[in-house]
Amino acid sequence: MVRGRSRVRFPILAQMNLADKTILITGATGGIGSVLSQKLKDQGSNVITIGRDPNKPATYHADLTDPISRQELVNRIIQDYKKIDILIHSAGVGIYKPLSEITQSDWNLSFTLNVEAPFFLTQALSPILEKSSDSLVLTIGSGAGTIPMRGRSLYCATKFALRGLMLSLAEESRNTHPSYCLITLGSTLTPFGPLSLDKKVEESLNGKAYFTPEWVANKLVEIMQNDDREDEITLFPGDYGFGEWKKP
Ligand SMILES: NC(=O)c1ccc[n+]([C@@H]2O[C@H](COP(=O)([O-])OP(=O)(O)OC[C@H]3O[C@@H](n4cnc5c(N)ncnc54)[C@H](OP(=O)(O)O)[C@@H]3O)[C@@H](O)[C@H]2O)c1
Repeated sequence: MVRGRSRVRFPILAQMNLADKTILITGATGGIGSVLSQKLKDQGSNVITIGRDPNKPATYHADLTDPISRQELVNRIIQDYKKIDILIHSAGVGIYKPLSEITQSDWNLSFTLNVEAPFFLTQALSPILEKSSDSLVLTIGSGAGTIPMRGRSLYCATKFALRGLMLSLAEESRNTHPSYCLITLGSTLTPFGPLSLDKKVEESLNGKAYFTPEWVANKLVEIMQNDDREDEITLFPGDYGFGEWKKP
């Protein structure tokens, strides 16, 4: 046994400095995307925001369900920027309905926005992502991509599919760049899905587990800064003391 004072060893975490990084974020006008965009701007990042509603401020507006609108967006980005360091997929839709009520247009909208758009945007932007030596594709997935839920089959199917895509791309680009990180996120206080924000706030006051968008955005910044991040990071509010969660 070695006697004497033991040396305390601190792990050295590789840190990505977000200042001056060019970061493109879809869903930047949404509950999570808007707070995250501001936090990244506060870090000194050059943030390119994508929204859909022309009445909400964003660098570019595009309907990501429309392949022509998507292509026009990609053309403008490639023309305006030499490289992108981080691509964040946050745009999404949550249609929660039982089997008998789901329509073909619910299906098309959900799969096009939640699965097709992040896949083809990633593919189209790969040439300018590859120009940055430590580029990252960060995708906001959902607990609904790992847990089957009643009345949410369509939403769960899109998030299971998105998870399969992004974790497979993480394998495909191992030891090169961009790297991939999927956030398997739990309920957050935004107007996402059929329940109003007011109703969610009421539920959270009654003990139901919800993150605030501020908490999520701070955590995402921390995750982006950590070069040793895992391919998938699960964030459930119940695990962080935000209340109780019951599977729907
Ligand atoms: N909130 C939650 O409880 C929760 C939990 C787990 C995972 N997530 C995931 O987190 C992500 C962000 O959710 P959020 O809570 O921020 O949702 P949100 O507040 O409803 O925001 C949705 C965003 O998607 C954009 N969008 C919708 N349709 C679009 C389209 N056709 N083309 C382009 N953009 C479109 C919206 O743009 P406009 O504002 O311009 O319409 C908005 O920026 C989603 O992928 C969601 O699945 C959310």
